[in-house]
Amino acid sequence: MNVNKKLVVGNWKMNGSLAGNAELLGSVGKAGVLGCEVVVCVPFPYLLQASQFLPSQTGVGIGAQNVSEFDDGAYTGEVSVRMLADLGCRYVIVGHSERRSLFHEDDRMVGRKAAAVLRAGLLPIVCVGETLAERSDGLTLEVVTRQLDAVAAEVDGLAAERVVLAYEPVWAIGSGLTASVAQVKEVHAAVRAWTLRAFGDDVATKVLYGGSVKPGNAVELFAVPNVDGGLIGGASLVASDFLAICRAAAGN
Ligand code: PGA
Repeated sequence: MNVNKKLVVGNWKMNGSLAGNAELLGSVGKAGVLGCEVVVCVPFPYLLQASQFLPSQTGVGIGAQNVSEFDDGAYTGEVSVRMLADLGCRYVIVGHSERRSLFHEDDRMVGRKAAAVLRAGLLPIVCVGETLAERSDGLTLEVVTRQLDAVAAEVDGLAAERVVLAYEPVWAIGSGLTASVAQVKEVHAAVRAWTLRAFGDDVATKVLYGGSVKPGNAVELFAVPNVDGGLIGGASLVASDFLAICRAAAGN
């Protein structure tokens, strides 16, 4: 990871097809030279295709959207970090709000998954964020801190410099509602203060913002202090939008 460059991560979620991906990956490959770091997190069955379309010379990294907390064994249907590494994967999103809410992943499980990713030498992108009800109740910073503390407890002693964090307010994901600059500024300042406490000031943890980032709001969001890039869902499926967001992150 380059600490001086912003990081843009595309999260395709459960979308794609072999034929459709070929075109999208061809365009995403061009993002590697724009001046920001770029990662694309594709569904498990397409990781090998992504590795083939995005060889390391493109400068675009490959990531998964989830992983098992276990190393190997009798866990039917699960995918281990070692398998992901085998397919050329360097990053793994853990604790996305859809995993937390739809698949019952709790704070401790998210922490264990982040630890498994670090133990295998990959980089976890750990998502945190509050629901609308929690924000309305004034609990945003409390919730985010609780989620972060659970991760810190599990990754203690592991390579903290490989942890990437993503603040994603649940109510802004896929909704077209983006957090305001003031809201992003407040939470990112709190997350930065947390990383300094948890990991120390010699670890430059990247903190991404995610939630309805589009070409039209990316410049403004990436200019907010302590925003080191973005986690992009819907807009990562449209090549021109994703490239425009990468250009915004690179300052072009
Ligand atoms: P969105 O998704 O950009 O479609 O809001 C972001 C995410 O889920 O990571």
